[in-house]
Amino acid sequence: MKSFTFYNPTRLIFGKGQLEQLKTLVPQYGKNILLVYGGGSIKRSGLYDSVTALLKETGANVTELSGVEPNPRLSTVHKGVDLCKSENVDLILAVGGGSVIDCAKAIAVGAKYDGDMWDFAERKAVAQDALPLGVVLTMAATGSEMNSGSVITNEQTMEKLGWGSAYSFPTFSILDPEFTYSLPKDQTVYGMVDMMSHVLETYFHLEGNTPVQDGFCESVLRAVIEAGPKLVEDLENYELRETVMYSGTLALNGVLSMGSTGDWATHNIEHAVSAVYDIPHGGGLAILFPNWMKHSLKVDPERFKKLAVNVFGIDPSGKSAEEAGLEGIEALRAFWNSIGAPSTLADYEIDGSRIDEMADKAMKFGPFGNFNKLQREDVVAIYKASL
Ligand code: NZQ
Ligand code: ZN
Repeated sequence: MKSFTFYNPTRLIFGKGQLEQLKTLVPQYGKNILLVYGGGSIKRSGLYDSVTALLKETGANVTELSGVEPNPRLSTVHKGVDLCKSENVDLILAVGGGSVIDCAKAIAVGAKYDGDMWDFAERKAVAQDALPLGVVLTMAATGSEMNSGSVITNEQTMEKLGWGSAYSFPTFSILDPEFTYSLPKDQTVYGMVDMMSHVLETYFHLEGNTPVQDGFCESVLRAVIEAGPKLVEDLENYELRETVMYSGTLALNGVLSMGSTGDWATHNIEHAVSAVYDIPHGGGLAILFPNWMKHSLKVDPERFKKLAVNVFGIDPSGKSAEEAGLEGIEALRAFWNSIGAPSTLADYEIDGSRIDEMADKAMKFGPFGNFNKLQREDVVAIYKASL
């Protein structure tokens, strides 16, 4: 393992009925609340009414920022920053999925920064302060509810960039699996693909002696593989939603990556696709990840074999590590297809005409990938294999 410091200050509140805790949590931060949410799913599900009723009981002054887009836009972040300043906001409360939370994180740091928060995404500055952020999660996918990452799309430059800081962890996050019942099948699938991809990004590292971490990763993958097909047929099953919600948080809250540095190239490659075509992140990952894996198989075939055997039950006897590893990659593709995830860019009607543009975007900060460092030609090859 490499040396590491683990830091995660988010108070994680998990389970049925836990929304009530808002009544004691919110007043700890002040009276002026900015309630941030998306395109209306929380109004349809009734969660908006529950949250606003609880906030009313605390005597809070609530300002709202609604309409946060999937793949949240910088202009929406700017609106939120202006509201924080004009309304003297004490606490931001994000109610939604990863996009709402990521937008709220950007607002939280932007409200305490004199320049444009996009400076953080551009690596021109590092956040030094933020407003506190509370979260009520409605979609199991990104892990944003318990990490410091955020991904914002600048619609003017058509760039989608991730950023993070020690100040952008949520202060608290409330996770009630019932709040994900209303999530439609396609988004449920995208969420599972995303969390599995986070585990895979973590799993592919070059560090030695990580048996505990590898086992955790394999266990989370097996749990999602076991629950996923049942969940897509039974969207209001509490136990399945619970398993998947917990998996999503664990996949990217830092626990699985202690002592190693995961690859993360596929995320970069996918963000460039979403920047140009505005497709769902999980859908893009389902297409790209198996192709990154095939492209990277030779870096450490034994690791791919380990995944194939321990997660997909591939029998390795009589096979080279590469052959067994490849069967694991095919099994992953087959699993994602079986629950309804896309497998080619053509599934989103994306052809090869803008590959150069996407590759340029992916290469913005130079060659990338910690397990397999990719040059521009590698990125182009992975896009071409994904058409
Ligand atoms: O906007 P509303 O109306 O709320 O609808 C959303 C949205 O249309 C809907 N939805 C969410 N919860 C629902 C629901 N519909 C019905 N019932 C519910 N309970 O689902 C749609 C997608 O929501 P979104 O928040 O965009 O999805 P997700 O959680 O997958 O977030 C995706 C964003 O997160 C970024 C992605 O790049 C993308 O921009 N990521 C953030 C990460 C992080 N912060 O750590 C890591 C990830 O790798 C990822 O890059
Ligand atoms: Zn992701």
